[in-house]
Amino acid sequence: MNTTNKSVTENVTLGHSYDGIREYDNPLPGWWKWLFVLTVVVSPFYLLYFHVGGPNRSVHEQFAAALDANQKKKYADIGDLTPDAVTLVKYMKDPEWNEVGKSIYKMNCVSCHGAEGGGVIGPNLCDENYKHIKKVEDIVKVINEGVAGGAMPAWATRIPNKNDIVMVSAYVASLRGTSPANPKGPDGSPIAAWSAGDTPATGDAPATGDAPATGTDPAASDAPAASDAPAASDAPTRTP
Ligand code: HEC
Repeated sequence: MNTTNKSVTENVTLGHSYDGIREYDNPLPGWWKWLFVLTVVVSPFYLLYFHVGGPNRSVHEQFAAALDANQKKKYADIGDLTPDAVTLVKYMKDPEWNEVGKSIYKMNCVSCHGAEGGGVIGPNLCDENYKHIKKVEDIVKVINEGVAGGAMPAWATRIPNKNDIVMVSAYVASLRGTSPANPKGPDGSPIAAWSAGDTPATGDAPATGDAPATGTDPAASDAPAASDAPAASDAPTRTP
């Protein structure tokens, strides 16, 4: 055995013998040991710098900050949206913003409503039948507040950005009339086509629709009562 390791060639043992078992004096190379010492010495500084020190030092924080900045940039041009019918129908038809809505849908909704909206645990969002929705703004309300005792969760706190809620609602509205693979059967009843709410009555409604921004329950429960009433009587006659 022609090895360059000096201690092995010389067969130096450590001198002890346990049940006849002896141990070679075969130390780790010096560079390896110093590398180990170096990692031990560096570790407290690493810990202090990245985990205890100032903000935005860890990769996670930098990622979160970048996302946040991106988010701000994303909505910088359009400002805070009002979740009314005009806005929803507008963004429903905008292919670029639809992609934003789709990404929010993909992140949060696919598990229950399917990748293409065909329905899994939750109902099919692509057909003409809806359980809780009569007009396009109702989508925002269902998503914000949830329905069926949380079977459909409330997203107002989980998706805190109001514009994100508008975008995902507009995306859901755009799913109507598409043909997903393996769609679930219809739930609820057929409703009239989405209307952009061209009447002053529904145009005013968004004022109460601002309520979710305050996030208080009483405000939120007042709003639907006010906006539901006119819709029930107006919708069938005004929509083609
Ligand atoms: C944990 C499962 C689950 C998740 C996640 C979920 N939903 Fe739902 N969703 C449901 C269920 C269940 C219903 C139907 C409730 C009922 O039967 O009354 C529903 C109903 C709805 C409705 C009303 C459909 C109708 O026919 O009235 C909309 C719109 C909707 N969900 C959108 C979304 C969006 C957008 C997301 C993602 C932000 C989402 N859901 C995430 C389970 C879910």
